[in-house]
Amino acid sequence: MIKKIDKNNILFVAAATGFFAIGGILTTFAPPLLDASWAKPAPGLQNYPELAKGGDAHADLVMKGRAIYVRDGCWYCHTQQTRTIEADTVRSGWRDVRSPVSTPDEFVFDKPHLFGTRRVGPDLSRAGGKYDKQWHATHFKDPRSLVPGSAMPPFPWIANNPAELDAMVAYIQSLGRAKDWRPTHDYEE
Ligand code: HEC
Repeated sequence: MIKKIDKNNILFVAAATGFFAIGGILTTFAPPLLDASWAKPAPGLQNYPELAKGGDAHADLVMKGRAIYVRDGCWYCHTQQTRTIEADTVRSGWRDVRSPVSTPDEFVFDKPHLFGTRRVGPDLSRAGGKYDKQWHATHFKDPRSLVPGSAMPPFPWIANNPAELDAMVAYIQSLGRAKDWRPTHDYEE
């Protein structure tokens, strides 16, 4: 049987597709069917797309910032998922507090999701409230002025455009805020 599949192109492609499908079913379709909490929004999660449609000014700003994040390819270098490994919870953490691991209920309204694939820069899933607006303005203008040797390019068209800067910062401050995880709740707005 295995020999036959190995020698026949069509059988080989069919078998490979079958094996990939098993992986897809187990990792994509089975978990939400087995655990309904995957599709239920986290208690603190804001439905920014709906709020923006309803005329909420802050949500509108967040959605505009998200569009700039997509347009400028921030997601080529940044992920938005704190994985279950310890180094992630330390890097996403704040002072000595480790951040919680990302869970599916935090991304229910994220369409399309911006999990990203490459970590050229740090993960941003808990970046919300970490730095104030002045920090971001300076960082977009010249990342190396704050972090020597940074591989992040400058984004002067964001830093020098008050509307884009407001939107971008509103979006970053919204990241990971479905969970109120810092003991002193000292998030920058
Ligand atoms: C070429 C890769 C690259 C691109 C594109 C990029 N960044 Fe970065 N980013 C980095 C690197 C590397 C760092 C770490 C050094 C630093 O802080 O400058 C970083 C750091 C950051 C930080 C600080 C994170 C922390 O926890 O300290 C934020 C916020 C950030 N980037 C936002 C953005 C946004 C928003 C965009 C799109 C407008 C963007 N980045 C585009 C590479 C990139």
